[in-house]
Amino acid sequence: MSSSSESARYEREEAVARTFDAWVRDGKATGMERRHKRLAERMLERLDLPPDSRMLDLGCGDGWTARLVARSLTAGAVFGLDVSMEMVSLARELSAELENTLFAPGAAEEIPWAEDYFTHVLSIESAYYWTDTDLAAKEIFRVTAYGGSFHILINYYEENPHSAGWDHETGLPLHRLSTEQWARLFRDAGFEEVVTDQIPDDSPISPGKPPEEMARRQGLQAVGALYVTGRKPALPESARAQRAGAVNPFRVLR
Ligand SMILES: C[S@@+](CC[C@H](N)C(=O)[O-])C[C@H]1O[C@@H](n2cnc3c(N)ncnc32)[C@H](O)[C@@H]1O
Repeated sequence: MSSSSESARYEREEAVARTFDAWVRDGKATGMERRHKRLAERMLERLDLPPDSRMLDLGCGDGWTARLVARSLTAGAVFGLDVSMEMVSLARELSAELENTLFAPGAAEEIPWAEDYFTHVLSIESAYYWTDTDLAAKEIFRVTAYGGSFHILINYYEENPHSAGWDHETGLPLHRLSTEQWARLFRDAGFEEVVTDQIPDDSPISPGKPPEEMARRQGLQAVGALYVTGRKPALPESARAQRAGAVNPFRVLR
């Protein structure tokens, strides 16, 4: 990547970080759990996570998904990554009692972790903010364990007309890709069995909104969120023996 496109990426990343830092200061961060939880639960039901899973939560926000998952992992752990330092600080504070969570500032485009490690990479309502989706998909592929999977959930995508104005509302240049474009991105990064689905959202909508906003929310939830998943191919048998003695870097979390 040229240094000018790299600096453009960092500038955009900083703008996203500033926006979400402000969400924390304005008390908006913790509201995301209420808005996204029902959808996240419906996605997690499909994962059927083994108790020793090693999960990466990309764009973890205040860390509520990481905590939800970490509590169910008796022998596993969750690493939450977010470009907003304020989100990371809040996630650390709210997760202090959990030994199997770790949060760090950083970007999906430059994941600070070793390759072939996470059994599951998950990301909720974050992918359309990423500055470089191609680079992020490649990074996700790099850090996913052989035979591991990724799981992306987003409401902002071409086939859901009710989210179309979100870029104006946030003031950020969001990626409005189609279902097929998201799938292709991950196939191009190397993932197999890439499939998509739309998950309707049956969360209750808080009353008191203007009728227009209420109708938009109802429409958004009825069309549902886009779910994209895929698997990194398993390591060939011939290469498995060579890796058998490798050190497990997840010990830092225990
Ligand atoms: C709408 S919030 C969702 C947070 C959380 N996943 C949830 O469902 O509550 C999007 C989050 O993605 C983070 N984010 C945006 N771009 C990112 C990137 N390139 N790398 C890592 N995190 C990013 C933001 O800072 C923000 O905390």
